[in-house]
Amino acid sequence: MTIKEIKHCSFCGIEQSASIPLIAGAEGYICGACVALAHQVVSNWSRKKALSKMQDTLPIPAKIKDHLDQYVIGQQLAKEILAVAVYNHYKRLKHESGDAGLGQFDKDVEIGKSNLLLIGPSGTGKTLLASTLAKIVGVPFVVADATTLTQAGYVGDDVENILVRLLDVADGNMANAEWGIVYLDEIDKLARSPEQPTGTRDVSGEGVQQALLRLVEGSQVKLPNKGRHSKDGVDVIMDTRNILFIAGGSFPGLEKHVEKRLVPTNSAIGFHAAVNQTVEKPNLEAMLNATQPSDLRKFGLIPEFIGRFPVLAPLEPLDVDALIRVLTEPKNALVKQYQQLFAFEGVELVFAHDALVAIAEKAIERDTGARGLRSIMEQILRKSMFDIPSRNDVERCVVDADVVNGFGEVRVEQKTDEPRREQAG
Ligand SMILES: Nc1ncnc2c1ncn2[C@@H]1O[C@H](COP(=O)(O)OP(=O)(O)O)[C@@H](O)[C@H]1O
Ligand SMILES: [Mg+2]
Ligand SMILES: [Zn+2]
Repeated sequence: MTIKEIKHCSFCGIEQSASIPLIAGAEGYICGACVALAHQVVSNWSRKKALSKMQDTLPIPAKIKDHLDQYVIGQQLAKEILAVAVYNHYKRLKHESGDAGLGQFDKDVEIGKSNLLLIGPSGTGKTLLASTLAKIVGVPFVVADATTLTQAGYVGDDVENILVRLLDVADGNMANAEWGIVYLDEIDKLARSPEQPTGTRDVSGEGVQQALLRLVEGSQVKLPNKGRHSKDGVDVIMDTRNILFIAGGSFPGLEKHVEKRLVPTNSAIGFHAAVNQTVEKPNLEAMLNATQPSDLRKFGLIPEFIGRFPVLAPLEPLDVDALIRVLTEPKNALVKQYQQLFAFEGVELVFAHDALVAIAEKAIERDTGARGLRSIMEQILRKSMFDIPSRNDVERCVVDADVVNGFGEVRVEQKTDEPRREQAG
């Protein structure tokens, strides 16, 4: 006569039954609920482990900014805002993981995230800031181009694919991906422009805003089933509550909306005109600094979307001095790059100061910020880059303003002692 042994979960003590099967181990048993709980605890470990790795190097805002300074010229305000946003993102991450290293804190205070919006003319460093940031933050980071996104059901990328990429960058670790940062580039292209009649393009732009809103608001998002992440047909869900979103756009014409608000039109005409002549028209930079959410709404972003980006970071247009610095100062500055290319041929490449000024002025004419610099450089140096490899008598190439303006050629200084390479033939 044997009494059937009653089995219990070794963790919670629950009794085995038809509805509660137990998994047997060498020394005991475990129930399904305890397995699920254990899984949760373990995935938290990996987040903690990643956190403790960042622990010693938790970048304070000043350090993040220092790093950005090495690659991005100017844009002090935007850099500071970004540095603080990223730093706070880390702090929230530690706070929610219950890390004690933060000093005294109230566990009941939930720190909300502050998504931010970079606004500035084309070619002033928005994408550069985001991609540089991606290199220095210790959390998964993806850059997504809003122009490639489409409303569900249309041809193109669904917004959920951004999250799939984030999960990829996190090596499939969902816990880490859920603390990532997403940069949404060219967000202004999603605006429905009030001047144009409602066309298909505009409708879909607004549709994408709606679709993005779901991610940005923070919700449980089902990732598209591409077979890759879905095991055994189980839906993969990502919680976007803690993902930091940074959006960027050039918002051409936004300043007009700001100006209309700041300078009422009736003061600019008639009786007041004489008075106003002495009042300086606010410049683009001042306009950007004064930008408010209502201006973005007039521009064509939906209010719900704007509401999710409470921090606005303006980027300033780059003037001649700034463009010269862009050409020469950053770690991978264009002048340094071309000098390196010439150095491979044993040739020194020299830019006279007036040449740099002329290049900067040309770029400003094109109105594409620093973006036009490379093609201007290519034009200037194309002939030299073609000729130099077939010669070995060149010591130095000198570029001055005349070359830039098309009035002369790059001055070639020959080596004094070495003979000219004989042409084969
Ligand atoms: N503030 C800046 N400092 C250094 N380089 C810059 C800056 N702004 C733009 N550039 C250069 O111009 C290129 C285009 O800049 P990008 O960041 O793409 O401009 P946008 O603001 O339009 O996103 C960059 O690859 C970079 O080489
Ligand atoms: Mg850009
Ligand atoms: Zn149990």
